[in-house]
Amino acid sequence: MAKTIKRIGVLTGGGDCAGLNAVIRAVTKSAIFQHGLEVFGIEDGFLGLVQNRIRQLTPDDVSGILTQGGTILGSSNKCNPSEFATRNHDGQIEKHDVTNRCLDHIDHHRLDALVVIGGDGTMSGAANFIRNGINCVGVPKTIDNDLYGTDVTFGFATACHVATDALDRIHTTAASHHRAMVVEVMGRNAGWIALHSGIASGADVILIPEIPFDLDNVCEFVKGRSRYGKRFTIIAVSEGATPQGGEKIVAEVDPTSPDPIKLGGVGKFVADQIEERSGIETRYSVLGHMQRGGTPVAEDRVLATEFGYAAVQTLMEGKPNRLVVMQGRTVTDVDILSAENKQRTIPHDHPLIQAARSVGTSFGVETGE
Ligand code: F6P
Repeated sequence: MAKTIKRIGVLTGGGDCAGLNAVIRAVTKSAIFQHGLEVFGIEDGFLGLVQNRIRQLTPDDVSGILTQGGTILGSSNKCNPSEFATRNHDGQIEKHDVTNRCLDHIDHHRLDALVVIGGDGTMSGAANFIRNGINCVGVPKTIDNDLYGTDVTFGFATACHVATDALDRIHTTAASHHRAMVVEVMGRNAGWIALHSGIASGADVILIPEIPFDLDNVCEFVKGRSRYGKRFTIIAVSEGATPQGGEKIVAEVDPTSPDPIKLGGVGKFVADQIEERSGIETRYSVLGHMQRGGTPVAEDRVLATEFGYAAVQTLMEGKPNRLVVMQGRTVTDVDILSAENKQRTIPHDHPLIQAARSVGTSFGVETGE
């Protein structure tokens, strides 16, 4: 029989994004107002579970945070309790399983379930606790929109809004100076941000990880526009985009992180190549973390509230270990373990790729590749 839920913990794990506070607010308020639960905030994701930094949340604590960026609980994208990384005296990284320490802290605070707000890394972390008998409900977060099982994650809409605004601004300066301008956006191994913001801003070229690009093709496209009297070109490139036959460009490797590869640099690479091969003056901009910060757009506030409410409902309906998801326009739930170690990338025949191509957007390859 499912355990009666009286006290729940809530944590935000992985890279932050806009809308985290809106979920914390929705979880806390609906748990307290609708079900009389006690809610405990765990600080800095799984790190707070390891270090026993857990505090009770009241409605007052979450009042006024709906529109705030970031997370009042803090987050960490470096902590996986089953492989907890520390440096020894020689500066070498050692990894230990500290799951039992976390289980003691969960027991100490008498938490009956955890609401785990995060992306694929956080859901994999939750899977470890589920295997140790802890009931976890997941809430899908990430600007990358790559979490398996849901059509959309909160934070994505805001990131696209920021990227679209940047591309619009780049558009006007590119036109004034008759330049090619490359804008590198985030997204890891999925091109959702580049695809959506590229379409929204009318970018001429969109480069995404799912379609390795041909540099000759990109340069010919830029030169072709110039020949037809279009004296500027806007290129939206996802940080994970790869030249055909090449590798992803890595900015940094962080051995203390469960996700050690930090992508970055493809925007500069593409800009340098265009200028060198075509002689057309080219500049690049990297948007970086501004896509994650700031106030969430209305769509993310709504989604975050729906997800937070649904997470509490799912727990109270006695459904253990679920991930609340959006499928079509309906919020529902799936087995949280089904999202473990999987990513949702863009299929080549996605309708948005077809729509973009239909208005003349290039993906840096011959059509059909
Ligand atoms: O997963 C979200 C994300 O912003 C990715 O788009 C990006 O590759 C990564 O996190 C950056 O991580 P960090 O904040 O560690 O630099």
